[in-house]
Amino acid sequence: MPVDSRPWGPTLSDAEVAERVDALMAEMTVAEKAGQLTQYFYFRLPAPPSEEIEETLHVDFAQQPEMVEAALGEGRVGSLLFVTDPAEVNRLQRLAVEGNRHGIPVLFGFDVIHGLRTILPVPIAMAASWDPSVIERGQAVAAREARAVGIHWAFAPMVDIARDPRWGRIVEGAGEDPYLGSAVAVAQVRGFQGERLGSPDRIIAGPKHFAGYGAALGGRDYDEVNLSDAELWNVYLPPFQAAVDAGAGNVMTAYMDLNGVPATGNRWLFTDVLRDTFGFDGFVVSDAQAVHNLRTHGFAADLTDAAARAVTAGVDLEMAITDPAYAHLPESVESGLVGEEVLDASVRRILTAKVRMGLLDRPYVDEDRARAVLADPAHRAVARTAAQRSAVLLRNEGDLLPLTSPGSVAVIGPLADSRRDTLGPWVFDYDSTETVTVLAGIRERAGGEVGYAPGIRPAQRVFPSMFDMWGDNAPVDPADFDDAAELDRAVSLARESDVAVVVVGEWQNMIGEAASRSSLELPGGQLALLQAVAGTGTPVVLLVMNGRPLDLRWAAENVPAILDIWYPGSQGGAAVADLLFGDVAPGGKLPFTWPRTVGQVPMIYSHTISHEPDNQRRRYWDEQSTPLFPFGHGLSYGRFEYGDPTLDRSSIRAGETVTVSVTVTNVGPRAGDEVAQLFIHQRYGTASRPVRELKGFRRLTLAAGESQTLRFPLGPDELRYWNAATKDWVIDTTTIDVFVGGDSTAGQSVSFTIGS
Ligand code: BGC
Repeated sequence: MPVDSRPWGPTLSDAEVAERVDALMAEMTVAEKAGQLTQYFYFRLPAPPSEEIEETLHVDFAQQPEMVEAALGEGRVGSLLFVTDPAEVNRLQRLAVEGNRHGIPVLFGFDVIHGLRTILPVPIAMAASWDPSVIERGQAVAAREARAVGIHWAFAPMVDIARDPRWGRIVEGAGEDPYLGSAVAVAQVRGFQGERLGSPDRIIAGPKHFAGYGAALGGRDYDEVNLSDAELWNVYLPPFQAAVDAGAGNVMTAYMDLNGVPATGNRWLFTDVLRDTFGFDGFVVSDAQAVHNLRTHGFAADLTDAAARAVTAGVDLEMAITDPAYAHLPESVESGLVGEEVLDASVRRILTAKVRMGLLDRPYVDEDRARAVLADPAHRAVARTAAQRSAVLLRNEGDLLPLTSPGSVAVIGPLADSRRDTLGPWVFDYDSTETVTVLAGIRERAGGEVGYAPGIRPAQRVFPSMFDMWGDNAPVDPADFDDAAELDRAVSLARESDVAVVVVGEWQNMIGEAASRSSLELPGGQLALLQAVAGTGTPVVLLVMNGRPLDLRWAAENVPAILDIWYPGSQGGAAVADLLFGDVAPGGKLPFTWPRTVGQVPMIYSHTISHEPDNQRRRYWDEQSTPLFPFGHGLSYGRFEYGDPTLDRSSIRAGETVTVSVTVTNVGPRAGDEVAQLFIHQRYGTASRPVRELKGFRRLTLAAGESQTLRFPLGPDELRYWNAATKDWVIDTTTIDVFVGGDSTAGQSVSFTIGS
């Protein structure tokens, strides 16, 4: 096919883009402008959803596609979401282009969370790699596949800090820490967008949900959030700022009330913080139905009021399933409730994105090319590497792993052979047949005899998930399953085998949006199964398939090897086999503190010293108040020792930078990966600061006996913090302790002073 080399959106200067936008806007009516600010879901479901789901979402799914097509034909739509078939994209795009006088195409958005066809490990797993380069490569693959089918924009990354694992969406983010969260956010924005907005094979990144969504009361998704200014500025906002600094073209609002004001109607968030303080110049989209729901919240009087308040708060585009509030904007402009300049500012942002992405020049996609891109084997290779690098070796007593001469292997547990669960939540366009389960991966690699027994039936949610309306989302409860006989079969298999690989966790519909939990226990009969298998005396390797910490107290004392594999994606089973048999060494680290029990949550490593720090381990009278595994924990097949950290100077002034050096040596007999982590603690100042705060990290691979010296700068960005007393950023005159090591309990320390 000849390459079209004429200038188009991505190659235009900013002035040329503005000129095209101005020309369009000069011709547009207020109604046409309001249409550009409306985004619709377009659903074609595999089967009609249950009445319960329709009622909860207030949607008549049978009517939905027809209603959207009518709106497209009348120029009332600026963007669509949830269309992933390139032929459908082209068909709907044609309706849009022909449906408005100016031929303006729609922007297609989608939840490209961890892959489109090639499924990467879930985001919390990618964060556990502590490897920004693998994260960037992964999202570049996701972007390439999405762009090929006609998607221009990902509703990702989710950069919400999550400190309460009852909240199911912890799986979509980077965990509890703002420093790690910022690094992961930047890597994802770069992966999605490339060098600049409009880069070939890339899409717009949309960090979400602005802001504070992860702090839902009781971990209950959508419930209110109350956060102090200090928590917002020091913990919850930094990953957004990092994503904006990295050039993210979009930001999504959040559903919940933040300190008593619904986030989607919060002008302070979108105008004062996002635009004026962070300098964001992209467009803001509401979360689904969130403008409409300003009325439901008891905030807006009606839909007219909801639209007026959202658009003046700075929300440019309304994401709607039905009945968009922004359809009322023309009447508000007419009545003077909303100034036309407010509307224009939003329309300008949407059109700028469209021009920049090249939509006006090339609105349609090449369906043959899409097929070829989706089948690219290089994408599977990236997914396999990502799954290898995100696994976290939690325990490895007696160096049970790697299995160098395993003999016969028993693979046990229903999750071990579930393709859908291997992929994790938030995927829709995966190819099931090419998904490698843990069982398939081990069978392919082990060589020797590999037996399989599920042992128990899959566990079920008490309340179904809205995602269950997508075909195979909920696990099937087999009708002819003989519980007693199946348990016996699993135990006998373990008894006859040289090693038992037991897979436990949560089924993927138990984690994600609207998947909060009141407990962290292994659902169903999994603990009993594990105990029965361990009772045979056959050594057990436990694989955990999860997106949040689970109650592994029993396993942490009784099972020699525990590998957290998360939901590892399309190539998950192959990667797990690579790790188990020692073809590669694990090296991921926990991006959250792993509590012992749900009663301890929220639990973070970066708490303040407090009154009576000596009894901090004994805050509860019935359970230790330490975690089961600390933030940053993870083992490898190497063993690492840290030399004493040194400084290039022992004293700085505020604004200056000190460099910390440390040498890491692999003193074990095998090669391995380590993530060196640097934490600071401020001894005194104008506020009390956390016992530890992550301020640097580096993942490295070291051969047996190999050393590497690392350098970490500590400058104003690392040393400043937002102070609740002065209500501003400060760098105190103080002494800073620096700790470097393999997790957040790192002991090696050195100190420097900050003078005035
Ligand atoms: C979620 C968003 C998502 C959107 C579109 C909402 O329910 O909160 O994260 O991007 O749906 O699917």
